[in-house]
Amino acid sequence: MNAFPPGFLWGSATAAHQTEGNNLNTDWWVREGMMPGMESSGDACDSYHRYDQDMRLLAEAGLDTYRFSIEWARIVPREGQVSRALLAHYRRMIDTALAFGLTPVVTLLHSTIPLWLAERGGWQADDAVERFVDYVRVAATILADVPYVITLNEPNMMAQMVAAIEAARSGGQWRSATLAGQAEAAASATADEVREAVRNLPTPTAEHGQVFIAAHHAARAVLRELLPAARVGWTIANPALYAAPEHENRLREVRYGMEDVYLEAAAGDDFIGVQAYSAQEVGADGLVPHPPHPTNTLTGAAYRPDALEMAVRHTWAMTGLPILVTENGIATGDDELRIAYTREALRGLVAAMDDGADVRGYLHWSLLDNFEWGHWEPTFGLIAVDRSTFVRTPKPSLAWLGAVARGNGAELGQP
Ligand code: BGC
Repeated sequence: MNAFPPGFLWGSATAAHQTEGNNLNTDWWVREGMMPGMESSGDACDSYHRYDQDMRLLAEAGLDTYRFSIEWARIVPREGQVSRALLAHYRRMIDTALAFGLTPVVTLLHSTIPLWLAERGGWQADDAVERFVDYVRVAATILADVPYVITLNEPNMMAQMVAAIEAARSGGQWRSATLAGQAEAAASATADEVREAVRNLPTPTAEHGQVFIAAHHAARAVLRELLPAARVGWTIANPALYAAPEHENRLREVRYGMEDVYLEAAAGDDFIGVQAYSAQEVGADGLVPHPPHPTNTLTGAAYRPDALEMAVRHTWAMTGLPILVTENGIATGDDELRIAYTREALRGLVAAMDDGADVRGYLHWSLLDNFEWGHWEPTFGLIAVDRSTFVRTPKPSLAWLGAVARGNGAELGQP
């Protein structure tokens, strides 16, 4: 088995808010402090200061690509004010990656937005797209030799938040468009109420995604003008949905709002990022929640290493674009299971490639055990991080993935 073409990229991925620490000027930082039952990112993995260690471990293991994000809220700390020092910081990260022989894949926005925008409605503010494009223009000044630039990470997950806010406005629940409104409501909510609300997030429709599609297209136009050599795309959360018997139509409907509208909007991009973890059924009432099962991962998702193959096949059929697997991994405390999951996912990837999918690389989520959006328990990392000393301890899965990379997949053996 060796479907991986020469030059196939092998690496891992992280995001700024989940690893840097003290990302104080963002909507998420504030939200963490006010939602009952949510843990804080705090110092995170202190990668803001220790990114060179992270990259060194990745490169020494035999991997050749690192995906990380740069933080809008740090680069533009106040509306209209650019931090040259922070731009220089992220430029040093790119230089460090290149010095280690790593191909940098840079995400411009990975979930978090600056507080100054969040305070006036976030993505629902009238000028959100314009302000994002201002930032993209500034960010482009440090990206000249970055081969892959991602505009937005998982617009479909961000659309889910927009849908939630909209539902809250009409239903009068504790969620609100502004952070001040959220704080007021959260003060009276219990941890159980928050958990219940999160469990019952409404399914987004295509409408909820329009602002992100507009932002992506506007950012792409700017990047094409300023960085003609960069490949520009976005990364989609691929839920690998499948129909319960006789519910094909419902599947098509749900999948359109959750995923396909974003795959369609990728037309004209240079590549598309596939991000798959688990698979989920769609029945008469829409998404069927993952039933409790002993093999569920630490996020409660079903153990489905076949999700990657499903996601790649669907994305390829829908877009015909070159694919970069920008995230795939498992939240588990059992590193042997991480290896087993990844091996099976990669064999599925080979099957999809054998059938024609043009896949250019595989980036595992995540390099580090990092902040999982309100929780520290779900560990996705190839490397453990001591949260008081920040000492990094590579897990066997890092060496294993490095060996797969060195052999360009030969290590996977026959299925
Ligand atoms: C996100 C990551 C997240 C991961 C695991 C993706 O939705 O891009 O930020 O940590 O999945 O849940």
